[in-house]
Amino acid sequence: MSEPLVLGIETSCDETAIGIVRGRTLLANVIASSVDEHARFGGVVPEIASRAHLEAMLPSINKAVAGAKISLSDIDAVAVTAGPGLVGALLVGTATAAGLALGLGKPLYGVNHLAAHVSVDFLTHDLPTDPTIALLVSGGHSSLLQVDDITGSITKLGATMDDAAGEAFDKISRVMGLGFPGGPAIDLSAQSGDPQAIDFPRGLTTSNDWQTRPYDFSFSGLKTAVARYLEATPDYKKADVAASFQEAIVDVLLLKSLAACKASGIDSLVIAGGVAANSRLRALASQRCLAAGVRLRIPSPALCTDNGAMVAALGSLMVAAGRAPSQSAFDADSSMPVEVVSL
Ligand code: KG4
Ligand code: ZN
Repeated sequence: MSEPLVLGIETSCDETAIGIVRGRTLLANVIASSVDEHARFGGVVPEIASRAHLEAMLPSINKAVAGAKISLSDIDAVAVTAGPGLVGALLVGTATAAGLALGLGKPLYGVNHLAAHVSVDFLTHDLPTDPTIALLVSGGHSSLLQVDDITGSITKLGATMDDAAGEAFDKISRVMGLGFPGGPAIDLSAQSGDPQAIDFPRGLTTSNDWQTRPYDFSFSGLKTAVARYLEATPDYKKADVAASFQEAIVDVLLLKSLAACKASGIDSLVIAGGVAANSRLRALASQRCLAAGVRLRIPSPALCTDNGAMVAALGSLMVAAGRAPSQSAFDADSSMPVEVVSL
């Protein structure tokens, strides 16, 4: 089977998302988000998310199948996010996928959401040239990875010690009254601000940190510094705070990513996850990677935030690599480690 037709299901957080790919061609990418139902709480409410997944699941599958102009029986494999994520939300996806695979008599792949974020790049750029360094920055995770084989060999080089990068964007956006999710709001506000206006701290970048924790991140000090600045400066300029805060995060993410490329001798960097949609991260990454002779790949912004195409993409790579499918009755793993690509 050279070009497997794979349906991917993603329900780890607040998006009910179905993707269909044939080989590395994206045929459908349907996303039903419950984000508006969570906005007034300032974050995702697990119970609301689970119920919304149940309601959106079958209409989304039908829409994706119609959009891809296929019939369900054409599908060669079903892939689903097995973790990490909200357990109740994950279960809606895994139960649906298991039923679908069983009913169609097709293999089922329970895959890691984080590896799926990284793998989606192969729908827009050349096939991944393993090995690569991957910077994974989302609402729940921030890590630096060495990817020797996206279907089975991922090593964690470092991770955040406190907040995820996206979480920091969301929290600072909330204190500045810019809304939820915070990343896109800060990105927009920052466009009319001065990134050098305020010199916010870069976490874990002292010379001692470079010795002991070169690839770990910390954003809690930055968060506190921004909160203090806002308190102490009643007439602060929102756009300048947004731009300076964003610059501090993006700077440190790229410093550490390029240090990992240099130390490992791997001249390839993939940036993935919701925060990879950030316009300043994308722009500064291309400047710095060019200067360092590192090949940069970032998925198109729409494929950076949670979607079903990324799950289907990883499923397609698993099939092509001849990886064994999952057992039909696997349990969703809300804290699935990033090194475990599939269950
Ligand atoms: O990957 P994702 O869609 O969901 C998780 O797996 O967490 O990431 C969501 C995160 C949110 O924290 C959101 O604020 C952030 O990605 N995000 C951004 C941007 N777009 C989404 N952060 C910065 N700039 C953006 N343009
Ligand atoms: Zn995600």
